[in-house]
Amino acid sequence: MGEGVGAGWEAVGPVAVAGAGLTGASWAGLFAAHGLEVRLYDVDESRLAEARARAEEAVRFLVSHGLADGGAAARGLASLRTTSDPESAFTGVAHVQECVVEELAAKRAVLTLAADYAPAHALLATSSSGLSISAIQEGVPGPERCLAAHPYNPPHLVPLVELAPGTRTSVETLERARTFYLALGEEPVMLRRDVPGYIANRLSAALWREAVELVRTGAASVRDVDRAVAAGPGLRWAVMGPHLLYHLGGGPGGIRGHLHHLARVKEGMLRDLATWTTFPADTANVLETGLVEETAGRSIEELARGRDEALAAILAAGVTDLTGDSRDTPGSGGRDVPVVVRGGQGRAVVVASGVSRTTLAWGQRGLLVRFDLEAGAAIPMHAHPHEQTGYLVSGDLTLVGETGEWTVAPGDSWSLPGRLAHGARTTSGAVAVEVFTPLRGEYLPGPPPLAPDGGE
Ligand SMILES: NC(=O)c1ccc[n+]([C@@H]2O[C@H](COP(=O)([O-])OP(=O)(O)OC[C@H]3O[C@@H](n4cnc5c(N)ncnc54)[C@H](O)[C@@H]3O)[C@@H](O)[C@H]2O)c1
Repeated sequence: MGEGVGAGWEAVGPVAVAGAGLTGASWAGLFAAHGLEVRLYDVDESRLAEARARAEEAVRFLVSHGLADGGAAARGLASLRTTSDPESAFTGVAHVQECVVEELAAKRAVLTLAADYAPAHALLATSSSGLSISAIQEGVPGPERCLAAHPYNPPHLVPLVELAPGTRTSVETLERARTFYLALGEEPVMLRRDVPGYIANRLSAALWREAVELVRTGAASVRDVDRAVAAGPGLRWAVMGPHLLYHLGGGPGGIRGHLHHLARVKEGMLRDLATWTTFPADTANVLETGLVEETAGRSIEELARGRDEALAAILAAGVTDLTGDSRDTPGSGGRDVPVVVRGGQGRAVVVASGVSRTTLAWGQRGLLVRFDLEAGAAIPMHAHPHEQTGYLVSGDLTLVGETGEWTVAPGDSWSLPGRLAHGARTTSGAVAVEVFTPLRGEYLPGPPPLAPDGGE
């Protein structure tokens, strides 16, 4: 994490956190730990002092566990302000993280206030767990800059943030939000549409129903169900998701091999799983009895401290990024070491017929991509606000500009100024790598969250 969010970031401006409850205080801590100027806003003034203390505690925790740079955190702490005045909360901010009570009217009201005072370029992100971003952004001035950015509790320690568009959210908003959270060492995942519960809570709900059922039906104790998750699949899930793990589980045959060998067995289990959609009346009693045994007198505060210490140790070890996904390297996840993406296996995006682009590595100051062009493919004329420096690995390539054409052979390099209209074509096919560098004050596009062709 080194220098906080880096020198270029100051241009982005302060961040407002609206709603000084559990979630708001934790977000405020994360932002401040990265040196951002944070304004913590709540209608209820009595919440502000406690929220400030919680945010400061989160910053100190991150620094003391090597997850934030002391200098950046000191800057963030020095500029952290609390307020119940919307004008001073939102004026001049670059980003609003809304964390007010989970009610549609309250969310719309606070985002409308934020939109009134914040500059037109400010992103308006809701942390809502269960409301639809499409519904929330309705009536908010500039709905295209509203998005859902759903954290996982506690946001200052769990890097996941689920970004979802409403029907009126622009692709640019999602790209800018992704850049923003990556620079904070977060792990943004992109939803292509507004899905209730996003990804993580839907998966958690599915798992928890069966966890409850195993206890209710007497198959296992609360403690043993919890241990079975934490000591087994949970440990693996900290480094890879279920699809990739089952792909490995299939041996040389990968996911096909896994399905071939185990689909019947899993289908048998699926037929036996709980299917209820209303929690059975005895759920709380049954779980509470088991939890008394499992917690053995430890208070909720003690347990939360233990959870946070363990999470910090896992994060500090830097082992939670083995999915092969491309992501930020400078300043990411509290690691002061380079992150190597094995094989450069980013996501391939089809950008034109017969042309795919794969992001190999991603940083605040540059994006390394590979282009694969099939024989006869062409990239239509286009322009963008970043410079491109390219290298032709193999095949043939002709760069097309408004004033001429340039033929490139394997081993040749080229450099294209930002905003220059250009295209390319190949006869026999081509593999090229390019570095994109943002122009001053601009954002890099990054791996598109919503590729126009639906690919990602
Ligand atoms: N608690 C979690 O684990 C969790 C996780 C992810 C997302 N979220 C989401 O975060 C949001 C907040 O949840 P929480 O658990 O922090 O709630 P909370 O009850 O702890 O805090 C909500 C705060 O919002 C304030 N508030 C209410 N109306 C307001 C308004 N109009 N303007 C400004 N402030 C206002 C309240 O005074 C309160 O301080 C919810 O949308 C929730 O779905 C919560």
